[in-house]
Amino acid sequence: MDIRDMTPDDLDAVLDTRKRSFGPLPGDLADAWRATARATLEQGRFLGAFDGSRLAGAARLPRFTQWWHGRPQPMAGVAGVVVNPEDRGRGVGRRLMRAVLARAAEMGDAVSALYPATTPIYRSLGWEHAGAKNNVTLSPEALRAIRLTEPVKLRRMGPDDAAEVIAIVGSVHAANRASGPICWDEASWRRFLDDEDDFLYLADDGYVTYSWDKGDISVDNLVAGSEATARALWSLVGTSSSIATKVTAAVAPDDPVLWLLRERSKEEVERTRWMFRVVDVADAIARRGFPPMISANAVVTVEDPERPSNTGTWRLEISGGSGTASAAEGEGPRLTVNGLSALYAGIPTSTLRLGGLLSGSAEFDEALDAAFAGTPYMLDYF
Ligand SMILES: CC(C)(COP(=O)(O)OP(=O)(O)OC[C@H]1O[C@@H](n2cnc3c(N)ncnc32)[C@H](O)[C@@H]1OP(=O)(O)O)[C@@H](O)C(=O)NCCC(=O)NCCS
Repeated sequence: MDIRDMTPDDLDAVLDTRKRSFGPLPGDLADAWRATARATLEQGRFLGAFDGSRLAGAARLPRFTQWWHGRPQPMAGVAGVVVNPEDRGRGVGRRLMRAVLARAAEMGDAVSALYPATTPIYRSLGWEHAGAKNNVTLSPEALRAIRLTEPVKLRRMGPDDAAEVIAIVGSVHAANRASGPICWDEASWRRFLDDEDDFLYLADDGYVTYSWDKGDISVDNLVAGSEATARALWSLVGTSSSIATKVTAAVAPDDPVLWLLRERSKEEVERTRWMFRVVDVADAIARRGFPPMISANAVVTVEDPERPSNTGTWRLEISGGSGTASAAEGEGPRLTVNGLSALYAGIPTSTLRLGGLLSGSAEFDEALDAAFAGTPYMLDYF
């Protein structure tokens, strides 16, 4: 079995494996998939496992921007991991994922995230449960009742607004000190903003993308940089209340819409979990944002059997909103790379200890909890 880069000639075979894995893609979605697939293979981010000339499995690692405590960094998202049914259970998936991890490191991505359909394969290679995409069900009438405090200019948007949307996403996630959310590249945004079945509205400091889904409304993204814009965009979605019986929306765990509603008690939230991996310890720490009020100095010993350059004792120094990891002598509390990845994503040390991901001295636990605190989320699925 060889692992190599995909070429355009391989795409029909991948679509066949995809069909056997996730079901058939209707014509227009297959076209969109081909466009995305071509873009990722041109970037060297699409790998295949081949038995001779026959495709056995495939995986993509599209690059996203991901914010950690309000600071953006490149992130290798892992998507479309598929193995032919007749090739499963023989280690093809794991070999592919090892190659994906190596490629992410070669490409300079210090962190990676993925939505797992099954956990063990990814966990065994260092990805760990970290955050969620939270889909809350809201009443359209309750959204309609959100009052405007001042007029907000909204306009329909299209592909040429892609750069503006990306700029808004960046400034809102930075201002909110967000952890976890991602942004697509401009070419992907141009494709999304060209979809005639989506309703796309732009304000000066926010936007919403939503669509009909079997008679109800689905909000893919709603990002607002001010109370006035949040009110304007959510109440716009609420104008569907005469037809839609519910609105399902991807939201942050503490999304302001939940505070704008007049009533709030029982909530229906569907969480789709994502896993996260630190690919390069030193770069991942250097690229993460931290609370500027926190000064922390901790020593940890990391075990990463898949990436030996991460294995060893690291001194973590956090101050002024930034951090560094430098190689150190001796032994600190022991973190598996899964534990380090979950810690990076804000999972408390008490959970890591009881979950078997952290052991040894607890002297740095409070400092680590304070430095890495966060409730990571994403608004986008990939
Ligand atoms: C999931 C998938 C990619 C795994 O590929 P594979 O070549 O069969 O995986 P491997 O043989 O390398 O197995 C790797 C590990 O994953 C486990 N695994 C594989 N398929 C699994 C499944 N369906 N459920 C739970 N664990 C599974 C194996 O048991 C093995 O773990 P172990 O060594 O601890 O026993 C493949 O089954 C597939 O294409 N499934 C359909 C599409 C899909 O779910 N893709 C994942 C999207 S995130």
